[in-house]
Amino acid sequence: MTEPSFPRSEIRVVLFEGISDTAAEAFRGAGYGNVETHPRALTGDALLAAVRPAHVIGIRSRTQLTAEVLAAAKKLVAVGCFCIGTDQVDLGFARRRGVPVFNAPYSNTRSVAELVIAEAILLLRRIPERNMGCHRGDWQKSAAGSREARGKTIGIVGYGHIGSQVGVLAEMLGMRVLYHDVSAKLPLGNVEAARDLDDLLERSDAVTLHVPDAPDTIGLIGESQLRRMRPGAVLINASRGKVVDLDALRSALLGGHLAGAAVDVFPEEPASREVPFASPLLGVDSVLLTPHIGGSTEEAQAGIGREVAAKLLRYSDDGSTLSAVGFPEVTLPAQRAGARLLHVHENQPGMLGAINDVIGRGDANIDAQFLRTVEDVGYVVTDVEASREAALALQSELRAIPGTLRSRVLF
Ligand code: NAI
Repeated sequence: MTEPSFPRSEIRVVLFEGISDTAAEAFRGAGYGNVETHPRALTGDALLAAVRPAHVIGIRSRTQLTAEVLAAAKKLVAVGCFCIGTDQVDLGFARRRGVPVFNAPYSNTRSVAELVIAEAILLLRRIPERNMGCHRGDWQKSAAGSREARGKTIGIVGYGHIGSQVGVLAEMLGMRVLYHDVSAKLPLGNVEAARDLDDLLERSDAVTLHVPDAPDTIGLIGESQLRRMRPGAVLINASRGKVVDLDALRSALLGGHLAGAAVDVFPEEPASREVPFASPLLGVDSVLLTPHIGGSTEEAQAGIGREVAAKLLRYSDDGSTLSAVGFPEVTLPAQRAGARLLHVHENQPGMLGAINDVIGRGDANIDAQFLRTVEDVGYVVTDVEASREAALALQSELRAIPGTLRSRVLF
């Protein structure tokens, strides 16, 4: 393994918001002894004081890493968002400071897929209405409209990470699986591609949505799509709130065209528990409502802790920025010998030439080199055959190149 020029034991890692212990364990296990953990998000002066000495900051969705906070963290090398979203970080400012931001987009895939399967079973059995009835003392024992999942067709809209997992689990239950995706996808198992969205809606007993938040997915399921669904079919949305027109869904449910729905995501979601939740679906017996918890399980949290810590460690130890958000993604094979020079700079013509001039003048042979740019920032990783002293001398010259944002050396 390579060695950062700065000793691992002195690299300060500050983790906020009760990030899973798996993260702190990963850092300590890799020799990063200086790990500070905070159970909650901090704000104002307390946050500024906590980030000031940090080389690595780990947050979840509540900590706001604004330009002011990032500017106060003068020693900052990398940020880990131990969650999916990165909106809480000023990504442009971080990039221009040469600080990559990592997240964990896929650690909760299985958790969402399991919930969707559970909901498909409950909805096909019309359990939400039976449950509400019992709560009111209404003993509705009829089997009418109550169906097994076995042999029924589930239509998956968006056959990506989650959609394809849902397909695998649904087949294990004996369901037939159709999917529709705008990109060409490799179908797993016996899954079949629908001709288009309408075809999927017309042939499915349960439709489940797994598309991203994008201009073309807003209102993807509106009144006319709901009308195309089979009478007595059910709809599940654990993707993004704006994908379904909830007023149209309410009408389709109350009018009896659809037998039920499960909704985990909403166009407007309360920012905290103190804010009351409102939706056109409140009070509709055939609807299962959940507060955007599709991916919220202990296993997902533990997985996120491991995944983001691994990305931060990899960047710290070998310079790889693979899967960084809004930052040039550079990855090289394991360093073979000598030193690895990492250089983040303003994306302007002549940078690579200037870097290689310095290395050439230092009489160091280049073993491997990789460059990537994203918007206003470029990142070059260069492996050189050079002694520790020669590499440190090269690094100080690289730092002096106008437009340099950050440079590090690994041995
Ligand atoms: P992904 O990016 O792996 O898959 C999305 C798929 O949708 C891709 O295959 C893409 O080609 C396809 N797609 C895009 N636009 C489409 C369209 N107009 N019609 C049909 N297909 C389209 O994403 P992943 O990880 O599977 O996540 C899916 C959704 O689930 C995202 O919106 C994500 O935010 C949400 N999610 C919700 C969670 C929850 O707690 N409820 C937790 C995790 C993710």
